[in-house]
Amino acid sequence: MTVTIRHIAKNAGEEVTFGAWMTNKRSSGKIQFLQLRDGTGFIQGVVVKNEVSEEIWEACNSLTQESSLYVTGLVREDNRSKLGYELTISKIEIIHLAEEYPISKKEHGTDFLMDHRHLWLRTPRQQAIMTIRGEIIRAIQEYFTENGYTLVDPPILTPTSAEGTTSLFHTKYFEEDAYLSQSGQLYMEAAAMALGRVYSFGPTFRAEKSKTRRHLIEFWMIEPEMAFVEHEENLHIQEEFLTHVIQAVLKNCENELALLERDTSKLAKTVAPFPRITYDEAIKLLQEEGHEITWGEDFGAPHETALAEKYEKPLFITHYPTELKAFYMKPDPQRQDVVLCADLIAPEGYGEIIGGSQRIDDPVLIEERFKEHNLSMYAYKWYLDLRKYGSVPHSGFGLGLERTVAWVCGLDHVRETIPFPRLLNRLYP
Ligand code: 4AD
Ligand code: MG
Repeated sequence: MTVTIRHIAKNAGEEVTFGAWMTNKRSSGKIQFLQLRDGTGFIQGVVVKNEVSEEIWEACNSLTQESSLYVTGLVREDNRSKLGYELTISKIEIIHLAEEYPISKKEHGTDFLMDHRHLWLRTPRQQAIMTIRGEIIRAIQEYFTENGYTLVDPPILTPTSAEGTTSLFHTKYFEEDAYLSQSGQLYMEAAAMALGRVYSFGPTFRAEKSKTRRHLIEFWMIEPEMAFVEHEENLHIQEEFLTHVIQAVLKNCENELALLERDTSKLAKTVAPFPRITYDEAIKLLQEEGHEITWGEDFGAPHETALAEKYEKPLFITHYPTELKAFYMKPDPQRQDVVLCADLIAPEGYGEIIGGSQRIDDPVLIEERFKEHNLSMYAYKWYLDLRKYGSVPHSGFGLGLERTVAWVCGLDHVRETIPFPRLLNRLYP
């Protein structure tokens, strides 16, 4: 069986051999302490001079930061270490002696770290973030699988926009114009009419010239779409879903959250049901607090933060003005000037993590919207067909993975939430 540091408890009392990198070294004359990592975790290896051959002692001495090796040793319980185990090294076999490593313990500037993202990923903090990201994805897939959703993959190269034309990434598709997907939603609507309840998990692209701590140019979105589901049930699914994901991370990533010094008592409050306010109420609350905002304007980050601060759980803001939102959202039957939608705002200033709505199912209204928004009837013909052949009420939402990771990990910026961030002015590495 493979030996991993993460599950080293299984090998307690045994002599094991595994591949690792040496991240740090301390020596006190007759003993060397090697910090080893294998990608799944970190363990301290102890080399005692008079217990190993001269050759092994010298080999350990020669190890530079990030050198790779096969290490053999006895797994010993040790309460002083975070892991609970240490390795008494009996043998090492050097694979590669690393050149002088550019990332050290000292503080490095953000630009330097971003230029070395391929190496920065190896540090404990980045490893913890990537592990949590992986657990979030696993828990998302678990929720949808357990609840009868089929995973469907929408295309990435598309002939049209899904979320408005201002942030489209243009490319050529042989002779034709094409765009990178901003959202798989429209295709997921077609899939929901075929399979009932579906979800997608894929990369999306927004050529937004925003340089904020919440915006990526390329980000990953989870987009469920459900036939026969209306606004109210859509919100209910979202809160159940997010509760599942957050509670799974709390349970399975205790060590990683501790390493990030995340206050988990705050995250633990994420349990359905979540509070809800309407856009109208939100505007009123903000105005009462002296914010300069009038009905019909969209919320900026400070507005979202001010509203979220009033609650300890994620907050649904529902019924936004029709004018502010995407063409496909269904108007409230009681009031045509607002739509049956909700944004879910994360606590602690992390902003919108989910956008969702009930979709227009009336073929006449959807055609009107195409005209109002100057959308090409040719490009969206297939989308209209969904309203022509057995149209049903349906709803869906999109969760931004990286904003969720930022919130769960308590990070200042989304750049650390994805292995290789694509930001305004950054396409390297
Ligand atoms: O609110 P958005 O634009 O909604 C949609 O795209 C819908 N079609 C989803 C659906 O109903 N199927 O985006 C959804 C989420 C946001 O709430 C946010 O978390 C994330 O995607 N997001 C971004 N994350 C990082 N960088 C960006 N530039 C983002 N833009 C949106
Ligand atoms: Mg949105």
